[in-house]
Amino acid sequence: MSRQRHFWRCCKFSALALISVFCLWHLSWLWDYVEYWTDGSLGAMLNVTTRHPLAPPYPHPYKFLINQPEKCQNRNPFLILLVAGQSHDTHTRNIIRETWGNERNHLDVGVTRIFLVGVSPVARESTQRLLEVESMVFADIVQQDFLDTYYNLTLKTLMGMEWVAKFCPNASYVMKIDNDMFLNVDYLIRSLLRPEMPARSDYFTGYIVANTGPYRRRSSKWYVPKEIYPNSTYPPYCAGPGYVLSVDMARKIYEVAQVIRVIPMEDSFMGICLYELKIPPTRSPANMFNGHRINYDRCAFHNLVMVHHYEPEELWTIWPDFWGKKNSGCRK
Ligand SMILES: *[C@@H]1O[C@H](CO)[C@@H](O)[C@H](O)[C@H]1NC(C)=O
Ligand SMILES: *[C@@H]1O[C@H](CO)[C@@H](O)[C@H](O)[C@H]1NC(C)=O
Ligand SMILES: *[C@@H]1O[C@H](CO)[C@@H](O)[C@H](O)[C@H]1NC(C)=O
Repeated sequence: MSRQRHFWRCCKFSALALISVFCLWHLSWLWDYVEYWTDGSLGAMLNVTTRHPLAPPYPHPYKFLINQPEKCQNRNPFLILLVAGQSHDTHTRNIIRETWGNERNHLDVGVTRIFLVGVSPVARESTQRLLEVESMVFADIVQQDFLDTYYNLTLKTLMGMEWVAKFCPNASYVMKIDNDMFLNVDYLIRSLLRPEMPARSDYFTGYIVANTGPYRRRSSKWYVPKEIYPNSTYPPYCAGPGYVLSVDMARKIYEVAQVIRVIPMEDSFMGICLYELKIPPTRSPANMFNGHRINYDRCAFHNLVMVHHYEPEELWTIWPDFWGKKNSGCRK
């Protein structure tokens, strides 16, 4: 008897708990909409806090923990690849070293590969020891003392700009690229950058995004509060997965970032820097920088610069076909 009563009490309690969770979930969903339609002002009035940090701490004298100061001594690479990835992700770095990031593929023009990392937020000590060993073996890791997190991505890009400005200022071009990409360095060099031409300056190109603005919903992953960026639109910018700049831009961006407010969206922030510098991004042929995924096709991939969403395993699978048969021609 008492056991039965206990059972029913349990049932009622569970049902109530379930209903509460359901209601709360709907409330948060409703709140998102209110936030969206009021452009965040109601939340600001009620002083609701966000679960996201407002802005990465900057400028701050971040110091290099791992550096490659001699990478460009006695040689001026034509192109520097700044590859953004997470500090613990040695696996992806190894695959990039053997595929599109292999410097030996482009000995005639000079390509230098640098991986940009911060300090691991988990297993800090052991990750750091492994990184130091990896850096001794490959001499291609650059790290500063900020936490390697999504909301600190802007710090990672700015570290790349600082590194280029300080340690490789005589290169010609820089490409910042994420580590989940397919990249055709050959096509980038021969069809877009063209070593036989004088190197450009004030040049910044990629997949241009225009007429967008900050998210004002506090629960959004991309939330940017008005206190950090008051305008409702962003200046045109190049989509974050991969963009290309002339080497002079690295110093200009690094310098302007010291005096304006840094926001966590690194690609929009690059657009804000360009706007402040009064240097708009340059358009490139539409097929070159692809913001969406395209399935692998050797001939198509030989005539574009990059494709988004290629995980290391897939990259490893397609690379022998792509690179091994690069001279075998494609029927039009
Ligand atoms: C960004 O890095 C700084 C410096 O390490 C750290 O204080 C801050 O918590 C990081 N921000 C996030 C959101 O991880
Ligand atoms: C870059 O070029 C300038 C002028 O030619 C030279 O003084 C400087 O040492 C070079 N820097 C590097 C890092 O090679
Ligand atoms: C933001 O808006 C103000 C006022 O309209 C304008 O002066 C400023 O240039 C804008 N900034 C950006 C980055 O668009």
